[in-house]
Amino acid sequence: MSDVLAGPILRRVDFNQVNIWLASNGPLDLKGELYVSDDLVTNIGVSNPRSVKLGDGLYVHLVRIFPVGDAKYPKDKLLCYDLKFTKADGSEESLTRDNHDVIFAGGRGVHLPSFFIPSSFKNVLHGSCRKPHAKQSVKGWNKVDQLSCGADLIEKHLLDLNERPVALFLTGDQIYADDVAMPLLAMSMKKSKELMGWDERIPVDANGSEVIPAKIKLGGRARDLKLNNHGFTSGESDNHLLTFGEFASMYLAAFGGEVSLPTSREEFANMHSTSNGASAYRWDRERALKFFSTRTDIRRLLANIPVYMIFDDHEVTDDWNLNINWEEKMYGNAFGRRVISNGLAAYWAFQGWGNDPDKFDDHFIEIISNHLNSKEVRGAGANEFDEKMLDQSSVDRWAYLLPTDPFTVVLDTRTQREAGSGGNSGACCLMNQNARQWLQSVLEQEQQRRGENYPLLLVSATPVFGFARMERLQEIASRLGLSVAAIDKESWKEGFHQLQYTITESSCVIDAVTILSGDVHYSFSVVDNFCNAAGSKTPVAQLTSSPLSNSPAGGFVGKNLLKVNKGEFPEMVRPIEGHKCAVTSLNQLGLVAFDQSGFAAKQVLVSKKSLTSAAENSLTYQFDRDGG
Ligand SMILES: [Fe+2]
Repeated sequence: MSDVLAGPILRRVDFNQVNIWLASNGPLDLKGELYVSDDLVTNIGVSNPRSVKLGDGLYVHLVRIFPVGDAKYPKDKLLCYDLKFTKADGSEESLTRDNHDVIFAGGRGVHLPSFFIPSSFKNVLHGSCRKPHAKQSVKGWNKVDQLSCGADLIEKHLLDLNERPVALFLTGDQIYADDVAMPLLAMSMKKSKELMGWDERIPVDANGSEVIPAKIKLGGRARDLKLNNHGFTSGESDNHLLTFGEFASMYLAAFGGEVSLPTSREEFANMHSTSNGASAYRWDRERALKFFSTRTDIRRLLANIPVYMIFDDHEVTDDWNLNINWEEKMYGNAFGRRVISNGLAAYWAFQGWGNDPDKFDDHFIEIISNHLNSKEVRGAGANEFDEKMLDQSSVDRWAYLLPTDPFTVVLDTRTQREAGSGGNSGACCLMNQNARQWLQSVLEQEQQRRGENYPLLLVSATPVFGFARMERLQEIASRLGLSVAAIDKESWKEGFHQLQYTITESSCVIDAVTILSGDVHYSFSVVDNFCNAAGSKTPVAQLTSSPLSNSPAGGFVGKNLLKVNKGEFPEMVRPIEGHKCAVTSLNQLGLVAFDQSGFAAKQVLVSKKSLTSAAENSLTYQFDRDGG
């Protein structure tokens, strides 16, 4: 039998479909069954699995389960799924039943992974930025992956649908492709060959020159990036992921797959390190092991809650599509094009596909699969692969909608940009005119379905309302001549008014907007309004939850800007430009509670420490629509 490499992960779920994602090292004849938890005999679903071979040892599967006939799945009832595979002798075996890697210990009678479809959102989890070797700001519990808190919350409220979180939004930087610790690259390089069956090569130019990443010494990739493309801006690119297999290996680890990091100095030397930084290696390895120590919790969490994802830049490379100049440099040669294509194809396979499977037709999937299985660096298939991945003409290839209450729109703020006031070298507007028109049209279509005054949930990796102190710091740095890339100047500031206009001046009336975002490596909550030209206001609550595992940007200065007191690095609440706002740079998972009108009423920032220590409170920010 083939081995499961990661998953099952529960993906898009609504009253018409349930989607379960899985990765394996060989073919698997899969079947999904769906049950209401109090009747584990009657299967209420029809299984429709799809498997895609992406390499000799890598298959990704999406098992779609549709309701029988014209039925709809019941809302507000605990549902369970079973994932089975057919063995060579024709018999079936379950991958999920009583599998304690994906069900909660002591399951209280629930022997299968479970979830529910809510009639309206009550408690939603969200978070961003999971860097395994991050130097985090406080010791102890804070060093583990705070996404694992989600598993604790589900286990605690397993059967209590009023309290159990209904969905998890991962708002970007699920992996850091450009900022990779040496032990992790060593692992990825080894795994990559197993998955793909060969040492992938990256084309450099039309003359046939190529880069073979497996031949570059650990810690030596920044030089190769500079040599072969001037677009890369990451300051941490010594171990940048380059091949599809390397991206895939990192996702498998991030989603709870097995992690095996080379241990000894000798092994380290065998991986062709350029330096003798054995102690840096040891520290990074220790941090990464701590991060991955919760990997079983991550597997259980992802199997037991519908998970929605969107990229930020680090899934592909730092500052991805930062501005027009960046794009021209990066996409100007074969090397940059292929690396970005590999990153995006991996995003599709591991994140994008399950968000909205209907968006990706056979042709799209075959272009990726055919190219990766051809093991060809150049030629028609390879060109088609690059062109498809880098095609930015479709406004909603990566953005998607969810028929939830509130109505959810997950925005793509990376591939649909346009130049802002600073021209080709300045900060971009995060959504161009086509993307804004698309947003306006989906809001209007939704109004036809729901009538006026419906609540909206927007998911934007980058916060729409910036944190004033940090943005001021960026302004100063910018005036001092630092580049947009150097100061991470990517925000809605350029284009904020256009977004506000899109929402308030469309022909539809939105009752209130909740925004979930990540990106910035500190968490904050703010209540404000979108205003239209006539002066009427739409309440907006923006809940930023970041990071799950990382430290604030700007080093010492950034860290201190987030401090109120001189003492320990604590949570705090203080007004920012007239609005109440809670800020913390501790690593946390956001838990957002919605009120009955579909507007966010509270954000609780949960950490492993707050869940396990009676002396430690979660930071809670509670508010009403007037910002009080
Ligand atoms: Fe990040």
